[in-house]
Amino acid sequence: MHEDERLIGRGFKKDDLDEASLRPRIMDEYIGQEKVKENLQVFIRAAKQRDEALDHVLLYGPPGLGKTTLAGIIASELGANLRVTSGPAIERPGDLAAILTNLGDTDVLFIDEIHRLNRTVEEILYPAMEDYALDIIIGKGPSARSIRIDLPRFTLVGATTRAGLLTSPLRERFGIINRLELYTHDELKRIVKRSASILGIEIDPDAATEIARRSRGTPRIANRLLKRIRDFAQIHGDGHIDLKVTKYALKALDIDGLGLDSVDRNVLLTIIQKFDGGPVGLDTLAASTGEEPDTIEDVYEPFLLQLGFLQKTPRGRKATRLAYEHLGIQYMGGDDDSDQVFMMDGW
Ligand code: ADE
Repeated sequence: MHEDERLIGRGFKKDDLDEASLRPRIMDEYIGQEKVKENLQVFIRAAKQRDEALDHVLLYGPPGLGKTTLAGIIASELGANLRVTSGPAIERPGDLAAILTNLGDTDVLFIDEIHRLNRTVEEILYPAMEDYALDIIIGKGPSARSIRIDLPRFTLVGATTRAGLLTSPLRERFGIINRLELYTHDELKRIVKRSASILGIEIDPDAATEIARRSRGTPRIANRLLKRIRDFAQIHGDGHIDLKVTKYALKALDIDGLGLDSVDRNVLLTIIQKFDGGPVGLDTLAASTGEEPDTIEDVYEPFLLQLGFLQKTPRGRKATRLAYEHLGIQYMGGDDDSDQVFMMDGW
């Protein structure tokens, strides 16, 4: 199944376009990521006091955790404009030069998927980040010369799923590097309640807890589930979301008690049934499940690792005893007897 077709996937979907209305706009409205928030608030206040641009910020972590939202909040707390773009959208050095020269003083430029910038574009960024300058080559051959154009003092906020995907010269130019973590159930519950209130949805506390438990630590998924469950509540009831309709909807959506969907289960079952529980290399696993290696690594793995269902070893991915238990498959222990995998009754 393609990532875009998954309700549970963390990539953007059409439905997320009105996600903007659910986005917190100031730090006080932003739930979770407490450490990141606290530190950013200090850096923002200090930069404002000194009347300087905030140092460049790198945000990394699985998709759907609020990197774009945080960039917007950084800009609003700085009292600056936000310009949003992405690595793949900036095709040529001239595209980036045009964006940079149009920024205002202390503005924030957000580049999503910054690891996907091409090399020639990335090289424009180095002097821009370091010296607020643009080096332009004029002419060709022996008469070519370089001129330097001053840029406004700006803050680059870069987002990526894994910091290791960035080249070191680019990574080194960020003064502030923050990793976003999966959210706790309690934080997700507060996010669900906040979103329900913005959307005018009535929801029982135990239903909000259930959605939080099944959202894989990801606000974007929590908000998406909330909207789908609202549809079930509207068609099968009076629109009010209680625990019963929530469970009914999640079953219809094929999302299990921990928030895993058919693709997550397929990843685990593939490791268990085709590779005797692993270890299996990422590329082999990707080929066997029909998913992209990057998608497995960025979207599925963080949560499966957090649940303790998956183990990363130097020889590849292994399914743990907990994964077997969750899937109702008898765990036969280590590598030696791993060919003896039995499905239990009722699976
Ligand atoms: N909506 C999506 N992410 C959120 C967050 N971190 N805090 C509050 N509302 C949100």
